[in-house]
Amino acid sequence: MLKRYIKLNVILNRQKESKITKKVLLQKMKQLPVLRRCRIENKRVILRCDFNVVIQNGKILDDTRIRAVIPTIKCILSKKPKKLIIISHLGRPSGFDKSLSLKPVAEHLSKLLRRKVVFKTLSEELETPERKGIVLLENIRFYKQEVQNDSRFAYLLSTLGDVFVNDAFATMHRKHASTYGLAKYLKSCIGLLVEEEIKNLDFSNKKKPIAVVLGGSKLSTKLPVIKSLIKKVDYVLLGGAMIFTFYKAQGFNVGKSLYEPEMLNEAKSLLNSKKIILPDDVVISRSLDKAVSLKTVPVSKIPSNFYGVDVGHKSILKFVDVLLKSKTIFWNGPLGKYEVEDFRQASEELANFIALMSNAYKIVGGGDTLTLLNELKLLDKFDFVSTGGGASLEYIAKGTLPFLELLKKKK
Ligand code: 3PG
Repeated sequence: MLKRYIKLNVILNRQKESKITKKVLLQKMKQLPVLRRCRIENKRVILRCDFNVVIQNGKILDDTRIRAVIPTIKCILSKKPKKLIIISHLGRPSGFDKSLSLKPVAEHLSKLLRRKVVFKTLSEELETPERKGIVLLENIRFYKQEVQNDSRFAYLLSTLGDVFVNDAFATMHRKHASTYGLAKYLKSCIGLLVEEEIKNLDFSNKKKPIAVVLGGSKLSTKLPVIKSLIKKVDYVLLGGAMIFTFYKAQGFNVGKSLYEPEMLNEAKSLLNSKKIILPDDVVISRSLDKAVSLKTVPVSKIPSNFYGVDVGHKSILKFVDVLLKSKTIFWNGPLGKYEVEDFRQASEELANFIALMSNAYKIVGGGDTLTLLNELKLLDKFDFVSTGGGASLEYIAKGTLPFLELLKKKK
């Protein structure tokens, strides 16, 4: 029924997304030093990547972020550098943690490139540097100085190379030693992936109406993004556990659902914006970990002993109505507690609609959303898959990121 309803409306609303003109892109890129224009022949190149992928028992579950940087690595190698040193983080370790080693990534990268990738720790490379070839350093977050953006640590890293290429778009919202810190000491530029991300996430080039679908558990972390989005886009459709803070702010009982008492005033003031669109019904369960007495209720009727775990079907139809009017759609974050199979119905329906029925220009970002779409084999139906989670949101909200600002100042 949903499909028929959608198809009819798609026909009524058929619109084509225009391609971003080359001119606009060129203007934007002119402000930034890019790899294509960077001289690296016979130089030691440090490349910062974001290989923050999910690894279980040594197996990489989704290699999207690794594949995304292959064109940059190939571009660097085609320019005949003396050697290439790749740095990345994985997870949020506090000190050494074997389960967060980048060793499986080095092996996978080597397969993808069909070239040897030497895997070393930072101290090994500092003591006995490779003379040539490709090196991937062990998880840089095993050193606490990385997230502290310690300037001596950044300087030490800079001694490994002559040129710094940052292609870690997904980490560009952080001011860490191997990202922001390194750029202070070395001639720096952005890689091909970052160029692509900037091109695709710039909403000023996109056809209106623009709709953003945002999931997430906490309103407090999403608040700056939502506030900024209200000024830039036409619709902000919300899902995830953060919706319960809005319902509480409206005076509803949210049962055992997670909500943030200190955010109630912020939620109330956001509700004044007509651009904010909330679900009208939710799926509830007596348990958060599995479906127990699962049912769908209006948001005003959540019983005290139930958790809200997903968005209801009626709300998906309401979301679809809005998305049908939209010519650009950006989606970040599942709508329900998608890790539990029974709580992912709404996210799956939304994924199917956006991927298969909508004619808008479709962008998706965020680790969980990519995992979901990968499982549904729908990822390739999107016009652009952003490797960033928090970074994509910050970029669309602010139109820039700290590392990009630093480069512009340096130029
Ligand atoms: C991400 O997964 O969004 C990036 O790798 C950044 O990771 P972080 O939030 O741990 O800094």
